[in-house]
Amino acid sequence: MMIAARCTRLGIPIVKNLTRVSSTSMFKSTDLNQHYIHSSVTCFPKCELTSKRYQIERGQFSTISEEDVNFFTNLLGHHRVINDETELEGYNIDWLGMVRGASSVLLKPKTTEEVSTILAYCNKRKLAVCPQGGNTGLVGGSVPVFDEIIISTALMNKVENVDTWLGVVTCQSGCVLEALDEHVSEYGLMIPLDLGAKGSCHIGGNVSTNAGGLRLLRYGSLHGSVLGVEAVLASGEIVDCLSAMKKDNTGYDLKQLFIGSEGTLGLVTKIAINCPPRPQSVNLAFLGLETFDDVLKTYKDAKKKLGEILSSCEFIDQSSIECVEKNLKLKAPIGAHPFYMLIETSGSNGIHDEEKLNVFLEEALGAGLVTDGTVATEPSRMHHIWSIRERIAEALINDGCTYKYDISLPLPHFYKMVEDMREHLGSNILRCCGYGHIGDGNLHLNITSKEFEKDLLNLIEPTIFEWTAKVNGSISAEHGVGFKKRNYIHYSKSSGAIALMKQLKALMDPNGILNPYKVLPDN
Ligand code: FAD
Ligand code: MLT
Ligand code: ZN
Repeated sequence: MMIAARCTRLGIPIVKNLTRVSSTSMFKSTDLNQHYIHSSVTCFPKCELTSKRYQIERGQFSTISEEDVNFFTNLLGHHRVINDETELEGYNIDWLGMVRGASSVLLKPKTTEEVSTILAYCNKRKLAVCPQGGNTGLVGGSVPVFDEIIISTALMNKVENVDTWLGVVTCQSGCVLEALDEHVSEYGLMIPLDLGAKGSCHIGGNVSTNAGGLRLLRYGSLHGSVLGVEAVLASGEIVDCLSAMKKDNTGYDLKQLFIGSEGTLGLVTKIAINCPPRPQSVNLAFLGLETFDDVLKTYKDAKKKLGEILSSCEFIDQSSIECVEKNLKLKAPIGAHPFYMLIETSGSNGIHDEEKLNVFLEEALGAGLVTDGTVATEPSRMHHIWSIRERIAEALINDGCTYKYDISLPLPHFYKMVEDMREHLGSNILRCCGYGHIGDGNLHLNITSKEFEKDLLNLIEPTIFEWTAKVNGSISAEHGVGFKKRNYIHYSKSSGAIALMKQLKALMDPNGILNPYKVLPDN
């Protein structure tokens, strides 16, 4: 059976499809991605080359030669060296269809040793590389800017061990997040990370971006959940920090350098991650609210009254819901409201959790904070409600072009930013909407237009980053810096911190071959 990945686009050509061989069989094998096979597609939205759109100058790297291709072919075989232009298209363009590189070679290693040999060779030859997982990144980090060699982790999909006592899975970095979660579910465990792109993104991509997602509120960030990392440096040296112990205070915590560094310091090959027990009972409330002030009060109440069972608290504005309803034909379970919230509880005792949620909702309704709502406990209804939230990104790209911002803000400023941007942009746009992980102070502010317009981009940036910096927010809450925000990093980091980052980069990747033009500013 062929299904589109959860995060793929409806209505416009899909950048990458996943073919699910069987939707019913269980993941008995440890070779996870056999159920999620990337298939190439022939039709792509041809966005402008990044180098042209952003006027970038190519770094002083070598150009790939026939001899180089022969070296890679001898190492990996013909099938794992992709140089067919059509097949490469989906790997050269990002999920948003906003940035496009021109790589002529993609490599698919299966082992750490192969990655090590590839990088040692590239470093010696000064060939730039771009590590790529599921290519669902939203900041232009996962695709080349020029002709960087793409190193895909698609075939690095083995689970090495599940420690059912401590609850830790150790696996290769190319395991698809959803497949990995299904695998550990057989042991009553879960991956403490969930996001709309779970059907395509790789755990290595998640770690490399320090992805946040829908349940960070409950399980914390990957800086805490990831217990060990194995990575390969630009030199080809393998750094083994793959401890699967919950406690390990032996020296500097080097694995943290690879979490969130977006492939600029090393290529992550293996990961050990803490897996909490899967909850026995889950409830999901979808609520309608009249004012943003009510949203804030409801969030505060949810934390207080639901306490340890609160597992997610998400926010959606009316414009985002309208976009999902119009572009994806997904119907919200309640009528129109200026604001919506999703509140999820996860626990071990269904009766207790339901009672607690009901008391919280009755009080919120009684106080007039919430004006309408519905609660789901049945998996198919919960799935429908979650789809509405998780597929907003997909709905937005159906408008044409999405200018995507992922910002951390102190809660009192949270929605003011959307209102101010709407006013600032006036009638130059199709839509300006806000949604996100309000429980983490993380706003996803999105602006759409029919086609990419440089003038509109210049109207948004740097104003949006200046606004963020003024209230001490972060210009990248969870998506990373990638290509798109590297020259704005100073809005969230001091010059001293940026200088130290550059020193680290020079130490770990002296030739700058790992994901150039990403994360660090040009100057
Ligand atoms: P890619 O996109 O392939 O790569 C991302 C970056 O990591 C690139 O810089 C790449 O070079 C680097 N990289 C990838 N693999 C490795 C590796 N093994 N070693 C070193 N570097 C590597 N993000 C969130 O944080 N929260 C969300 O809720 C969320 N929801 C999303 C929903 C949708 C529909 C989509 C499309 C994206 C969403 N994202 C979200 C963004 C994205 O999915 C995450 O950033 C994800 O972690 C990227 O994983 P990936 O495997 O696709 O990585
Ligand atoms: C989300 O929370 O839906 C993702 O981070 C993607 C997005 O920002 O659209
Ligand atoms: Zn998000």
